[in-house]
Amino acid sequence: MRIILLGAPGAGKGTQAQYLMQEFGIPQISTGDMLRAAIKAGTPLGLEAKKVIDAGQLVSDEIIIGLVKERIAQPDCQNGFLLDGFPRTIPQADAMVESNINIDYVLEFDVPDEVIVERMSGRRVHPASGRVYHIVYNPPKEEGKDDQTGDELIIRADDEPETVKKRLDIYHEQTEPLVAYYQGLAEQGKTQYHKLDGTQAVEKVSAQLKALLA
Ligand code: AP5
Ligand code: ZN
Repeated sequence: MRIILLGAPGAGKGTQAQYLMQEFGIPQISTGDMLRAAIKAGTPLGLEAKKVIDAGQLVSDEIIIGLVKERIAQPDCQNGFLLDGFPRTIPQADAMVESNINIDYVLEFDVPDEVIVERMSGRRVHPASGRVYHIVYNPPKEEGKDDQTGDELIIRADDEPETVKKRLDIYHEQTEPLVAYYQGLAEQGKTQYHKLDGTQAVEKVSAQLKALLA
């Protein structure tokens, strides 16, 4: 099963990816997590990406497409994968079509901008696993600690309110056109497109996904 999770920053893509990975046993490919890992490791890609990400801008299509194609070619992606945060521009989506990488489901999480800003201010993350928490809506069992490892949770550098606003602008400009793009593919029978109300509680969204994909 090949799935794209589409939605604004903070719409819940990473949160539901964790659920879908467990439920369906397919790997999460989060371009954001991959870039943050490169930054932490201090690789040339990381050094280049850091400035762009901290400013809330998008990393170049060329770099991202290369990264994703390489990842999809790994053996653990043979039975499917979950794309989280990719594609984010029309050229990135075109690259998938041109490479004959067909997608079974495109799942859009619909969340208004005001809700996003509130979510980002309370987000805490465990970078090593990609697990995501919220201090109010999805708190860890022990404050500030990852449920499974007990590691300290951190605040993402790009979650400052000014950067979040910038990321939302870029989402509306460059990523939202993908809604029409994939609805068009769905009309041609090339994928299935589903829009979910992403403002519901985490468990409700997960239950809807389960029903949809079962
Ligand atoms: P990326 O890491 O992909 O960030 P994003 O798309 O902006 O999305 P987020 O991770 O912020 O949000 P999410 O939808 O995963 O929400 P989450 O589940 O965490 O990308 C970061 C940067 O990398 C980009 O800005 C760009 O620079 C670069 N980049 C990445 N991919 C790229 C690409 N393809 N091309 C170019 N550049 C790229 O949830 C958010 C919060 O809400 C959490 O606190 C969570 O606990 C809470 N929450 C989740 N669901 C609910 C719910 N139902 N109810 C209440 N709270 C909830
Ligand atoms: Zn995410």
